[in-house]
Amino acid sequence: MMRLTKNHFYITAWALIFNYSCSQSADKKATIATDSLSTVATVPDSAAFKATIAGKQVGLFVLKNKNNVTAAITNYGGRLVSLLVPDNKGKLTDVILGYDSLKSYQKPREPYFGAIIGRYGNRIAKGKFSIDGKAYQLDINDGVNTLHGGFKGFYAQVFDAKQLSTNELELTYVSKDGEGGYPGNLSVKVHYILTDDNALKITYEATTDKPTVLNLTNHAYFNLNGAGSKTITDNQLQINADRFTPVDNTLIPTGKLQPVKGTPFDFTAFKTIGTDIGQTDDQLKNGKGYDHNFVLNKPSLTAAVATVKSPVTGIVMDVYTDEPGLQFYSGNFLTGDKHDGKHGAAYGYRSALCLETQHFPDAPNQPSFASTLLKPGQIYKTTTIYKFSAK
Ligand code: GLA
Repeated sequence: MMRLTKNHFYITAWALIFNYSCSQSADKKATIATDSLSTVATVPDSAAFKATIAGKQVGLFVLKNKNNVTAAITNYGGRLVSLLVPDNKGKLTDVILGYDSLKSYQKPREPYFGAIIGRYGNRIAKGKFSIDGKAYQLDINDGVNTLHGGFKGFYAQVFDAKQLSTNELELTYVSKDGEGGYPGNLSVKVHYILTDDNALKITYEATTDKPTVLNLTNHAYFNLNGAGSKTITDNQLQINADRFTPVDNTLIPTGKLQPVKGTPFDFTAFKTIGTDIGQTDDQLKNGKGYDHNFVLNKPSLTAAVATVKSPVTGIVMDVYTDEPGLQFYSGNFLTGDKHDGKHGAAYGYRSALCLETQHFPDAPNQPSFASTLLKPGQIYKTTTIYKFSAK
């Protein structure tokens, strides 16, 4: 007992010294507490992201605002690797699932952590669509469908990166005519902007030289209890959506817009995510939980379309977008079978959620859904904001 207490004293003293020296030595480091361990929230070592892929330089870019909120982004897949935001005690907490090195992002079946998704966020049935009577066939990478751009979507492409200031990164990419089966040379520009009101703003712009379809989004996996914490089912969620798009068992929308009222999909008022997730419901069965597109009542960049709250850290995330839809995915395919996450974390079943702002899945084949067609001469433009506070 005596020995244990002594050891405990030494461990605590060591932890205090370690914490102090880290917060003093590197300004990219900050002290945090997750729900499990007292540890140090850092962005990964940028050396672990240095590489040349297809003749392009890959690296890690760090943005910071005046409150020390910090975002780390790699131009491999345009991925948000870390986002450190203050909890209700003012301690910085990393709320994004990700990896410590570029290598892990390149492994097969990596779950799109933090990636810019293109050309088409979410699924297109059987990977087929037509424009002006011409049929196109995309990669089939998700059962019988195409998902998130196919086998080498933007999540696996190297963007050109230009850090414009301490709080803004510009990423550009030219997707060649025929890439993944999509028509047209497509020029894409994405900006990550970390504002002083603790918001991460993502803007997307694109032009094409042939008619094509486009649906860009970001695939950040959030855990407001702190990345590496066990579950998000204790988080509260509100989505300003009276309807959602029900899906078949391959997660392709049926084309209907179903009212959420009286279903487990009613998040019009704050609800703990775990409340209804285990209900017997055909849609929950098809999604293996929540993996559905919500029809936003009022897309807006000034009034939140969705809000998540953590009961552990008090962190609140407000989502703003001008997109008509929001895919709420409750991390049903995460398995946590490897300790390959940041700082050795195992990202288990439902240990994160995604709120992917988007046009509706399979819109190219669903005439009643808002069109995702982009023609030469048009400019595709969309913005999403994830804003953080703590209570
Ligand atoms: C999206 C999809 C999910 C799943 C994840 C990645 O959110 O809707 O079904 O494929 O991406 O695993």
